[in-house]
Amino acid sequence: MTSHLKPFAFPKRLPAAPPVGAAQASSRSDIIPLSYGTPSSDAFPYAELQAASAAAILHEGRDALQYAGAGGPGRVQQWIAERAALRSIQAAPQQILVTYGSQQAIDYAARALLEPGDHVWVEAPTYFGAVSTFRAAEAVITSFPIDAQGIQVERVEAALVEASRQGTPLPKLLYCMPNFHNPGGISLSPERRERLAQLAYEYNFFILEDDAYAELVYEGQHLPAIYSFGPERVVYLSSFSKIIAPGIRLGWAIGSAEVIRNMNSFFQGSKASVFSQEIVAQLFEHLSFPEHLQRLIERYKSSRNVMVDALREQFGNEVQFQVPAGGFFIWLAFPEDVRTSEFVQDAAGRGVSFLPGSQFFVEPEGGHYARLSFSYCNEEDIRLGIARFAEAYRSYKNRTV
Ligand SMILES: Cc1ncc(COP(=O)(O)O)c(C=O)c1O
Repeated sequence: MTSHLKPFAFPKRLPAAPPVGAAQASSRSDIIPLSYGTPSSDAFPYAELQAASAAAILHEGRDALQYAGAGGPGRVQQWIAERAALRSIQAAPQQILVTYGSQQAIDYAARALLEPGDHVWVEAPTYFGAVSTFRAAEAVITSFPIDAQGIQVERVEAALVEASRQGTPLPKLLYCMPNFHNPGGISLSPERRERLAQLAYEYNFFILEDDAYAELVYEGQHLPAIYSFGPERVVYLSSFSKIIAPGIRLGWAIGSAEVIRNMNSFFQGSKASVFSQEIVAQLFEHLSFPEHLQRLIERYKSSRNVMVDALREQFGNEVQFQVPAGGFFIWLAFPEDVRTSEFVQDAAGRGVSFLPGSQFFVEPEGGHYARLSFSYCNEEDIRLGIARFAEAYRSYKNRTV
């Protein structure tokens, strides 16, 4: 008998998009994964996490295992508020929501703020995890280019003026990565941050400010968050994934008490893992966060320098890139006629993976870009990986001329 039950009856909410990013990256052990936007496993505070996990059980005992947890969630929230203050964010406890990674915070913000058919404006290029979430929310997505100072706010403004004039839809949400953009590596200038927040008030939309790499600053200072210019109009997100470990699965959102209350309602009365929060709280008792962060910064900065030197040595002026002042990514611009997707397989055959630029755009564009990550591999592998990547490129070039 044929079944009339359709197993997945949400074609729009579960778009049949091919996997992108790390989900698509090969796990073959002979491939150097410059495609992974993943922290180095060696950078986890491993011994301290072992001690913190034991302490969470020993000190907080059975309470730490209850739905509400024990002291951990409160202490984690306090830590978040203290770090947010470094970015000129003032957040009361009712304005902070701890989530299962910042990916869940993007999802809950989308659920709280978007109706199907609402318009979401994103950067070009942008983070594909967020794009999938907006697609699942059945949003209409439009993108705006970035340059060395981040999203081109004057283009956003021109589009807002035009939409108002024509009576076409204005955005409900603008999604933006202000620091060490994934994949662009650039940061949004303070002037553009302020202007973007002003536009959000003028045109009545929300900004989703995704600051996953906020702490990993290799040069320069913390800049004020967009949130600091528009606390009623911005939902700020960040995460423990890059500074402790992604397996902890904890991130957070900061917003107006009203937005946070609405996002919180999707937890249906529960919380993001209270046991993980208990462990993080214990970790911060025994680990000096500033010292830990300094070690991470030294490590990733050194890896970045190795990759930058290797790229210059292998490619000379053949590729253009900005040296990122933080985060995990180098965004390479090849000559316009190059299609990086056309040598991704050959590169894998030579033992290196990277992500073709077109995966980071909502429109069919960006074919001559590539994203490399220097976070996961050790320095020797980075040098070898870049040499293999350059071989694949040269072979592609020789084939097509
Ligand atoms: C820009 C950006 N936002 C969000 C995330 C999701 O991070 P989390 O592990 O906190 O869910 C990532 C992960 O790579 C990211 O690059």
